Amino acid sequence: MNGEDSGEAPGEVAERAEALRARIAYHGHRYHELDDPEITDADYDLLVRELEALEERHPELLTPDSPTQQVGAGPSPLFASVAHLVPMMSLDKAFDLAELQAWVDRMARVDARVLEADFVCELKIDGLAMSITYEEGRMTRAATRGDGRTGEDVTPNVATVAAVPHELARPEGAGAPPALLEVRGEVYMPLGAFAELNRRQLEAGQKTFANPRNSAAGSLRQKDATITASRELAFWAYQVAALEGSTIPTRHSQSLELLRAWGLPVNPAITTVHGVEEVFSFCRHWEAHRHDLDYEIDGVVVKLDDLALREELGSTSHAPRWAIAFKLPSEERSTLLRAIEVSIGRTGRATPLAVLEPVFVGGSTVGLATLHNQDQVGLKDVRPGDTVVVRKAGDVIPEVVGPVLAERPSGLPEWVFPSDCPSCGAPLLRLPGESDTFCTNLDCPAQRVQRIVHFASRGALDIEGLGEKRVLQFVELGFLADLGDLYSLDRTLLVEAERFGELSVDNLLGALEASRTQPLHRVLVGLGIRHLGPAGARALAKRFGSLEAVMEAAASSVEDLAAVDGIGPVIAASLADFFASGTNRAVIEKLRRTGLALTEPGFVPPVEGGEGAAGGGDGDGGLPQTLDGKSVVVTGTLEGYTREEAELAVLARGGKFPGSVSAKTLAVFVGADPGAAKLRKAEEVGVPVLDGDRFAGVLETGELPEG
Ligand code: IVH
Repeated sequence: MNGEDSGEAPGEVAERAEALRARIAYHGHRYHELDDPEITDADYDLLVRELEALEERHPELLTPDSPTQQVGAGPSPLFASVAHLVPMMSLDKAFDLAELQAWVDRMARVDARVLEADFVCELKIDGLAMSITYEEGRMTRAATRGDGRTGEDVTPNVATVAAVPHELARPEGAGAPPALLEVRGEVYMPLGAFAELNRRQLEAGQKTFANPRNSAAGSLRQKDATITASRELAFWAYQVAALEGSTIPTRHSQSLELLRAWGLPVNPAITTVHGVEEVFSFCRHWEAHRHDLDYEIDGVVVKLDDLALREELGSTSHAPRWAIAFKLPSEERSTLLRAIEVSIGRTGRATPLAVLEPVFVGGSTVGLATLHNQDQVGLKDVRPGDTVVVRKAGDVIPEVVGPVLAERPSGLPEWVFPSDCPSCGAPLLRLPGESDTFCTNLDCPAQRVQRIVHFASRGALDIEGLGEKRVLQFVELGFLADLGDLYSLDRTLLVEAERFGELSVDNLLGALEASRTQPLHRVLVGLGIRHLGPAGARALAKRFGSLEAVMEAAASSVEDLAAVDGIGPVIAASLADFFASGTNRAVIEKLRRTGLALTEPGFVPPVEGGEGAAGGGDGDGGLPQTLDGKSVVVTGTLEGYTREEAELAVLARGGKFPGSVSAKTLAVFVGADPGAAKLRKAEEVGVPVLDGDRFAGVLETGELPEG
């Protein structure tokens, strides 16, 4: 980055500007023409911002062909060119609310009415801009943005997008459709379709798409429209560019209503607000809820509603003054890949991990990212020393998307998946047809550490202060061989080991002591039995009440186990395997001898001939099972409950808390700041939507209120 004006030598500045232009042109070409960008939008924006700042300080360097003066790229020779009736401009960007305020202030200096104006707030859909022309109500042409003046004719491709009507609807009472309509909007790929497409690509051994935007652009800009037709694309209309032979609206919000009436899809989240404070709230809301949508957005577009006021403000050479894009933090960034390490999990699975130069992405700093498995590293061909694109969206585990080939140092060697376990040296094994590689040595120290860490984790015995670092030390010091040793840790030894202060040793021993009475279902989770999750563990605990009874059933009748609601044959077989192992039985015996409860509080033995345990005997507190087997979904924040508390309240009453709506959902409860996607889905599949203050009542009775 550049320093202050004073320190800039003219020759160096000109060189830097030239270098920036070349890089921006290269990456612009990859993005616009090849639909295969190497760097992220955020990194591209940084380059452009740097060049803009440079040109502002040194106007003599500004050339008309500078990328800061252009919109997009010229049309590709693959498609016929189309001259847009009205140029397709780009948008200025605001990276925080202060920049948004500055935009309003700028407009207000031209016309003070802006301070009291209405704004239309829209989602900035991360797809591909499209201009579609309707003549006498029939779609006659669809074109990409191209360089803003001339785009590419992609009419046959857009004709395959189901959401785009070939003919405009004629709303009741309306006359003939307009003589001419040029509508602008975004073609995009929904997240589900994107995941499915990448799954298919992987299966076919083909390169996957980095993100939904690229896959939308790559799918649309196909010479062969049947390929486009085989991809699920969608469309949102957001702007009327030209209109003839119809009443001309005076507000943008009215023009969106017109588009809706003519059958064009207009995003339901679009909201008209009054004044800048309400614009801020809209932006804050979507900053927090972008992942509730089933498509990607990269910001919010704010537009003045009053079309006359827009006219007065006009445009610069490349963007209107009356609109702005409020950019959300990027979920992809590039950074240096320092190393690839293989981590061994508690089941022995070997996962390649990218050790990164820490980078702020998707709302947090990321230093480690997953590379999934051997095949994925091979397909992506990432090598230590590469600059790589890292992606972190929402709560998902950060992952490496791929290398930035233009930045690869020459001679960088390919990375080879190790043949031996990095922890114990035993050979790593990969079964034919499987994508995962395993260390099969049960005594492998890495596996032992991970098994103990899992036992102590939140969802299992919840032993505070027993994280990976500590467990590793204890294993290395020989204090722990397996989790059966946990409850016999010796205070004097621990203190003598000198690395642990007395207070922290006492805290740990206290936490261990407290965990002795944890209910059986948590112990079952903690044992790390393959395929057995928390729901299955609860079902077993509810049915059998003690570990002894579960083990007896596993030894005598796998069918009985499989018949338990929520277990089934796969988990039952896995349970039988687990308890048949002498090593596992020895660990359990140690746990029993050290006084672990191994029972479920409130257990009620099954009534003869009845179906499982009688009601009332489940959960940590033995609450009535009012929601037995029913699924409850919450969107937004319920008053008086955190998300975890709401989930626990449902689980403790025998219910399920799946996090997404399906036809089987009992009800969706709506709290503050709800997500649009869940509400839409509920409406679609006909699930009742209830106000959050009904939650407590339904918990108590399990019945939905009347009406
Ligand atoms: S308005 C003159 N509205 O963002 C108005 N653009 O640089 C120009 N985009 O690639 C665009 N969602 O395709 C507008 N609701 C929205 C949008 C939107 C996405 C894209 C557009 C263009 C970029 C703007």
